[in-house]
Amino acid sequence: MMASRALVLDEVSAFAADIRAGLTKAPQKELASKYLYDELGSRLFDVISLLPEYGLTRADQRLLRRNAREIVDRLPGDIVVAELGSGNGSKTRWILEAFSRRRHTSYFPIEISPTALAMCRRELSDIDSVSIVGFEREYLAGLLEVTARRRPGQHILVLFLGSTIGNFDHPADVTFLQEIRAILNPGDALLLGTDLEKPVDQLIAAYDDSLGVTAAFNLNLLSRVNREFSADFVLGSFRHEARFNSRTSSIEMHLRSDRTQRVTIAKAGFSIVIRAGETIWTETSHKYTLAEVDSLARKTSFRREAQWSDTEWPFAETLLVAV
Ligand SMILES: C[S@@+](CC[C@H](N)C(=O)[O-])C[C@H]1O[C@@H](n2cnc3c(N)ncnc32)[C@H](O)[C@@H]1O
Repeated sequence: MMASRALVLDEVSAFAADIRAGLTKAPQKELASKYLYDELGSRLFDVISLLPEYGLTRADQRLLRRNAREIVDRLPGDIVVAELGSGNGSKTRWILEAFSRRRHTSYFPIEISPTALAMCRRELSDIDSVSIVGFEREYLAGLLEVTARRRPGQHILVLFLGSTIGNFDHPADVTFLQEIRAILNPGDALLLGTDLEKPVDQLIAAYDDSLGVTAAFNLNLLSRVNREFSADFVLGSFRHEARFNSRTSSIEMHLRSDRTQRVTIAKAGFSIVIRAGETIWTETSHKYTLAEVDSLARKTSFRREAQWSDTEWPFAETLLVAV
């Protein structure tokens, strides 16, 4: 009880420190995208994945459904499955069902969002011969927990689906995969989802949908800071903005202030002034080329075992093996 309370307090103070560092950063204010996923944010993300404009999740679903059997066949032996940022876990079903036909399989979803983790457990608990142990942790801390549980002779398959890797600004994506690789053993595998380059108007529509769900997802971050830190962001004075940065080949989500205003984040003990027209940068979604995925693998000591791509919505799933 004491230990878990201390952990919660640590997380709150890390969140407060991140907010202060991000909102006082010049010239560009920012808030880390991992904080988009509180209870409401996780549920809004699930709605985004159903939007007609957001083809990414459906492309990933098609690839996993069609190729789960081959993915599993390419990984012989005793495999445990870990998933970084599982979300509701629905796309993972095909992989787990394919493994479970071979032998009993342990699945470890790793999630910062307790809501997503609970949805994931509910979604996948009916699969025979799969046991689920979820970790409410940051990616690397969760993966360390999984490796601590591996038995001799077992290999780990890490799932990092949905192009969440694109949320790391380059070269942070390389650094992150190097950190993952350092935790793994040779022969362990990584199934990496990457959204690929596509026309800019299609991308803008995907991140600024006509129903305004992505706008609500983005604005909820300010609303979360209001709720958890007694801040006084006036939501009506910020507008969601999705823009394409052609230099980095990334969609960026921002929140633009329509007036000069002072905001106090009471429980974090500071206040800021945001000028009219200034933005808070909340998320990056990098769009890859297949050559870039290869280079990412080479730089992080993985070998490409196989790759599947979707033509309807350019997206790739790449099976990498640690060398
Ligand atoms: C873009 S969503 C993708 C969800 C799912 N994998 C999919 O493909 O639909 C990213 C997920 O990662 C989780 N997440 C974000 N940052 C995280 C972190 N640092 N550690 C653990 N989970 C994180 C979020 O809560 C969210 O559920």
